[in-house]
Amino acid sequence: MLSFKQMALNAEVIALLQRVGLPTEDLDPVSTTFCGMWEDEMLCGVIAIEPYHGVGLLRSLAVSPAFRGRGQGEVLVGKAEELARRVGVEELYLLTVSSSTLFERCGFAHVARDAVPVSIRETRQFSGLCPATCAVMRKRI
Ligand SMILES: CC(C)(COP(=O)(O)OP(=O)(O)OC[C@H]1O[C@@H](n2cnc3c(N)ncnc32)[C@H](O)[C@@H]1OP(=O)(O)O)[C@@H](O)C(=O)NCCC(=O)NCCS
Repeated sequence: MLSFKQMALNAEVIALLQRVGLPTEDLDPVSTTFCGMWEDEMLCGVIAIEPYHGVGLLRSLAVSPAFRGRGQGEVLVGKAEELARRVGVEELYLLTVSSSTLFERCGFAHVARDAVPVSIRETRQFSGLCPATCAVMRKRI
């Protein structure tokens, strides 16, 4: 059975993100909060938020291949929204290359880059790590 819990950045999270090809070099262990998805002792999914005074960056959504296509990506997005609300975030932003459909199902909508708050635009993910072709999406939570 799958369980979900809040967790800090650790080697298991980094290994999972690297396995699915997501960036880890800019992850800040202090400001970033993670929710892990576990089957018994195995970490099989993760998602993170970086809060910036009322707005937040949703990032690092990963589900191990064996667990995909069963709605767990959407479940993790919901968990991240709970985490974000608890720390006062009212609006979440994200960048994605290939998962727009999933995020649209979760209520995110496309937004122009210049409509993104400066605190989010200045993150390394926004300013450099993600290609300019990434979709930018937003949700009020
Ligand atoms: C993106 C990712 C997290 C999706 O994980 P997932 O658990 O497969 O996500 P979901 O099951 O919620 O949705 C994925 C697909 O499964 C389908 N699906 C959703 N619920 C389902 C269910 N109950 N049964 C069967 N299929 C389902 C959806 O149609 C969806 O397809 P679509 O998005 O192409 O329309 C995963 O593929 C991944 O880790 N990819 C690599 C890292 C990555 O790209 N992360 C996103 C960074 S922005």
